[in-house]
Amino acid sequence: MIDPVMLQDVLEGLELPQKELSPKYFYDATGSELFERITELDEYYPTRTERALLEEQAPKWVRELRPASLVELGAGSSEKSRVVLSAMEDAGTGNVYVPVDVSGEFLHETARKLRLEYEGFRVEPEVVDISAPFDLPSDLPGPTWIALLGSTIGNFAPTDAVRLLKRVRSHLAPDDRFLLGVDRRPGPGKSVERLERAYNDDSGVTAAFNLNVLRVLNRELGADFDLDAFEHRAIYEPTHQRIEMHLVAQRPQEVTIGESRIRFEKGESIRTELSCKHDRASVDSMLEAADMEVERWAEDAEGAFTLLLAAPVEPGKG
Ligand code: TRP
Repeated sequence: MIDPVMLQDVLEGLELPQKELSPKYFYDATGSELFERITELDEYYPTRTERALLEEQAPKWVRELRPASLVELGAGSSEKSRVVLSAMEDAGTGNVYVPVDVSGEFLHETARKLRLEYEGFRVEPEVVDISAPFDLPSDLPGPTWIALLGSTIGNFAPTDAVRLLKRVRSHLAPDDRFLLGVDRRPGPGKSVERLERAYNDDSGVTAAFNLNVLRVLNRELGADFDLDAFEHRAIYEPTHQRIEMHLVAQRPQEVTIGESRIRFEKGESIRTELSCKHDRASVDSMLEAADMEVERWAEDAEGAFTLLLAAPVEPGKG
C-alpha cells in the first residue's frame, strides 16, 4: 500500500530546482539503527560532548528546579534522557517520561527497555512528527521539562526552528522548562574540518544512513533508485552556517516513482538534511522569537556544543 501523502510529498521535493527530501524518511527501523551507530562514532563529537554536559549539569539543575515529568522530542533510543531520568530518580522529583519520535517501531522498543530500567516510572511514548503541531498528554505532573537534544534543532532552518520553538513554548507553564542541546558554529576552539568529519566518518556509517533513504523510497513507494548510482556528500556551507547533506548522482539517469519519472544529470544532488549551527546570539534570538530566554547555559572547553535550559517569558516581555 502506497501512502499518497508520502508520495506527493516526495514528488514535490524531487521536482524542486534543488531536489530535496524530508529527513523524516531516514528513520525506518534500519535508519534508526544506523543513526544510533552515528552517535557512537569517534568523529561524531556532538553525542558524547552533550552527554558529558548532561552528566555535569543535569543532577544540579534537577535538584534546583525539581521537574516531575520529562518529555523528549526526537527521543530515538532515549540514550541521553537516561541521564536526566536518573537525576530525577535520585532527587525524587518525579517519575513520568514521554519519549516522542517519528519512528514508532523503534520508540516502542525503547519504551519497553526503559520500563525495565526505571521501574517506578510511567513511560508514555508518543509517535509524532514534531515538524507539525503536536499534542502532549494533558495530565503530566508539573514542572515538566521538554527536551530537544542531539542538535535536532539544527535540522530545522531558522524560520522552521522558530516555529518548532513556538510549539514547544505553547506547551510550557511558567514553571516548566525547555532543555536544548545545540551544536556550535566553527570558532577558535572548533575547526570546520572537525565539523565536516562528524558527517563524513571513515567507516561510512553516515553514508549508509544517508543512502538508506533511497531504500525507504524504493520499498514504500515502489521507486527504482539504484543505490550504487548515488554518493553521500556532507559539506559546511559558511553562508548559511550549516552542514548540508546531499546524495549526488554519479551518472545521468531517470528514476521512476509512481507515475512520475525524475531526471538526474550527472553531479546533480538531492539535499537530504540540513544541520544548522548556532552561537549564543543566534540561540538568544530564536528563543526570544518564541517567548523564551536562556536560564542556564553550559558548554565544553572548546565551545563545540552547548546544553541549555530555557524558561518561558510572558509574550512581549522577552
Ligand atoms: N541532529 C543530528 C545532527 O544534525 C542529525 C544527524 C547527524 C544527521 N548525522 C547525520 C542527519 C547524518 C543526516 C545525516 O548533527
